[in-house]
Amino acid sequence: MDSPTPIRRGQPRGPTTVPMLRARKRRTGAEPVVMLTAYDEPGARVADAGGVDVILVGDSVANNVLGYTDTLHVTVDDMVRHVAAVARARPAALVVGDMPWMSYHLSVESAVANAAALVRAGAGAVKLEGGLPRVAVVEAVVHAEIPVMGHLGLTPQSVLPMGGYRVQARDTDGAHALMAAAHALESAGCFALVLEGVPDVVAARVTDELAIPTIGIGAGPGCDGQVLVFHDLLGLGAGPVPKFARQYAHLADAATAAIAAYASDVRSGAFPSDEESYHVPHKLDLGQGSRPL
Ligand code: KIV
Repeated sequence: MDSPTPIRRGQPRGPTTVPMLRARKRRTGAEPVVMLTAYDEPGARVADAGGVDVILVGDSVANNVLGYTDTLHVTVDDMVRHVAAVARARPAALVVGDMPWMSYHLSVESAVANAAALVRAGAGAVKLEGGLPRVAVVEAVVHAEIPVMGHLGLTPQSVLPMGGYRVQARDTDGAHALMAAAHALESAGCFALVLEGVPDVVAARVTDELAIPTIGIGAGPGCDGQVLVFHDLLGLGAGPVPKFARQYAHLADAATAAIAAYASDVRSGAFPSDEESYHVPHKLDLGQGSRPL
């Protein structure tokens, strides 16, 4: 699909900070927040050149890069490695490191230590999933001077109790529970809130009620920003993309065609050519070989 969006590559931009993002409420006339996942230095470079505001080093690295079928297998060490790789791109975008499953569930102290490990790897903030049960952890991490992005709705780390990846808050009770959790996370100090897999009307109401920006994925157009997964946006994944993910390119197809052309050129002898080879201006004495040079 042709994108009407101007590419911001090369435009000098200052760093995006947490206070700048916290102020990005669309109802005040602010531009929507653009967030994209990235998991390595080249990915962060192109995401930043494309002009995103936030690079989320998501635990979706599990599915998109490491070949797992869920995010439960990713560890703090995995996230530290990927956050550090993204940070080496020195993006102007804010780098948010996702706290993996079991990195903030055992104790408040270990949660703060794990959040600090992501900051030391290069994150400017962390994200963690869940509502009321996470309030104490959010408060402690925020008190440790580490900005926290919340994440409600379809929280992939809850795949087992949810019984699969299902849209959440579809009935009145669920919607009210989600709104209460959103208010609690805001009061606990979150600077922004991801809403994933919730009905558009519920996301719009939460967005309306909160003073912090909401960033939606499968949550409709009423949020203060949107987030997509790098591999979904670029068509790099295997299999169909979810209904909410718009594919702006088909890079896996382009990459497969390029690699097939390379394989064909090697097999036919068309690669490398004389121009792609190094030469010396004089004759070399290479001794006696088994074959004439
Ligand atoms: O890990 C991730 O990619 C995420 C986004 C889907 C919000 O948490």
